[in-house]
Amino acid sequence: MERLALVTGAASGIGRAITERLVADGMRVLAADIDLAGLDAVRTAFGDSVVTSQCDVTSEESVAETCEYASSLGGLDVVVANAGRGAFSAIIDHPLSEWQAILDLCLTGVFLTVKHSAPVTHDGGSIITIASLNATQPSSGMSAYCAAKAGVVMLSKVAAMELGARGIRVNTIAPGLVETAATGAFFMVPGVVEEFVDNTTVGRFAQPSDVANMASFLAGPESTFVSGSLFPVDGGASTKRYPDLPAAFARLASPAE
Ligand SMILES: NC(=O)c1ccc[n+]([C@@H]2O[C@H](COP(=O)([O-])OP(=O)(O)OC[C@H]3O[C@@H](n4cnc5c(N)ncnc54)[C@H](O)[C@@H]3O)[C@@H](O)[C@H]2O)c1
Repeated sequence: MERLALVTGAASGIGRAITERLVADGMRVLAADIDLAGLDAVRTAFGDSVVTSQCDVTSEESVAETCEYASSLGGLDVVVANAGRGAFSAIIDHPLSEWQAILDLCLTGVFLTVKHSAPVTHDGGSIITIASLNATQPSSGMSAYCAAKAGVVMLSKVAAMELGARGIRVNTIAPGLVETAATGAFFMVPGVVEEFVDNTTVGRFAQPSDVANMASFLAGPESTFVSGSLFPVDGGASTKRYPDLPAAFARLASPAE
């Protein structure tokens, strides 16, 4: 029978590329996203292999509804908890509401996705969470994002322990800079992308397909002895230091200096 994967944040960027790759791998994908128009575009692009569910991963009711739908389709074999976004502010200026919004989306959203998808995932399934290079490499101005993504890594290890008895594996991918809608602002600040690329060992930034390749491996039969692990897809950036984003944004604000 065709295997079924749930991908959150599937309407754009990395989630869309993972959807495309899992379909190419022969899976059916339940694409979930808050963006209905984006989901329609994904369904148009990938046809009958994709079913969609509008889902806000910060809402327990919404995530539970999407997972009930997954159950009605026969249950899940793969889950990719991908939805997330960043924010930029020094800690002393960080509005509490924005801190909480990032934690809600990037960390609680993954918690809710694992909580409600695991009961409708077949024994032997694979759960993949998307963290970031910033889970391990700090960036000034990104406290909420860094803290949330570090939390995703540890949450996923605990999930691997709790679900291991059912043969369900839980692993985390930590992408470096990937060219998506979310990183559009970085590409507009002079010097930032160059500094990101200098921070890699391979001399380039990533495309969403680079992350989808790793998701395909973790979803597939060649990773059945892999669980509780963190997989950087960062071009070697974890060997170096993160770009100085506050300096870059300050240069943008005062270009003459
Ligand atoms: N792009 C990068 O450089 C990069 C690097 C490291 C980690 N990541 C992580 O990868 C993931 C995907 O990022 P991306 O770059 O593809 O971003 P993106 O903005 O292209 O896509 C994010 C998707 O998540 C959806 N989304 C937002 N809030 C949601 C919610 N409450 N419920 C459901 N869906 C929601 C958006 O509608 C969008 O379709 C995120 O978790 C991000 O933190 C990205």
